[in-house]
Amino acid sequence: MDIKQKIAQLKQLPTLPGVVVKISGMVESTDASAEDLGKIIATDQVLSARVLKLINSPIYGFPGRISSVTHGVVLLGFNVIKSLVLTASVFDIMIEQMKGLWEHSVGCAGIAARISKRFPSMDPEEISTAGLLHDLGRVVISSQLPEDYAHIMRMVEEDKRYMIECEQEVLGVDHASLLRWVVKDWNLPITLVEPLLYHHKPTLSRNAPLQTAIIHLADILVKACGYGISGDIYVPPLDETAWKRLGFLEEDVAVLVAEAEAEIETVDTFDLLG
Ligand SMILES: [Fe+2]
Ligand SMILES: [Fe+2]
Repeated sequence: MDIKQKIAQLKQLPTLPGVVVKISGMVESTDASAEDLGKIIATDQVLSARVLKLINSPIYGFPGRISSVTHGVVLLGFNVIKSLVLTASVFDIMIEQMKGLWEHSVGCAGIAARISKRFPSMDPEEISTAGLLHDLGRVVISSQLPEDYAHIMRMVEEDKRYMIECEQEVLGVDHASLLRWVVKDWNLPITLVEPLLYHHKPTLSRNAPLQTAIIHLADILVKACGYGISGDIYVPPLDETAWKRLGFLEEDVAVLVAEAEAEIETVDTFDLLG
């Protein structure tokens, strides 16, 4: 079985609840309403409690204000809720087995949302979600290809190289671009998908360059602040084109770092399983 097939098998993970399978089927239909989605999620108590906790978390900035999943769908958007549900099983693995990556992702989500508020055309909820999901491919590799994952992590440690280079060498694909196989049937907007696929190579984004640049920067900021574990030993280099695209100047770095630190303090109190 090749790598692509193993990754596509993610849908068969034992933890994937039946309701997620139903939602995967539903995403094909474009006329499904917020209420339809809310109703399906509500049939699984564990999943709806999880989704409610997530949408009321400091990541989205509506703490404690959303009482039903349907209300959440209306406030955060259909695609945001859909992607949170579809990735629920991967999140379980991340929280239980890769705590540092969970922190990295939550930190990235919060920082990305804060940066996005400078740009009126951006959707902060969608950006937060992209931040939360951006490294999901690492969980996919560790759960579907554990031996390759261990090999990659050894290379990162011993050879002091960047993770995406090692992934490319071992798998022929990296944790960002492999997500295209995972999300391909989910009908997610390109503005949510491109930041996931290109967060390490933001210049490749054709349809969502600003969103991708924001996730790229937030990913680096959370790492630079020393919060969570991204998998890399070093802070990856900031892409100059992405930086320019965002219109920041050198003197903005200190402000961005201070904001990132404040944001990390806010999201750090959030415990999804607690
Ligand atoms: Fe990454
Ligand atoms: Fe990351």
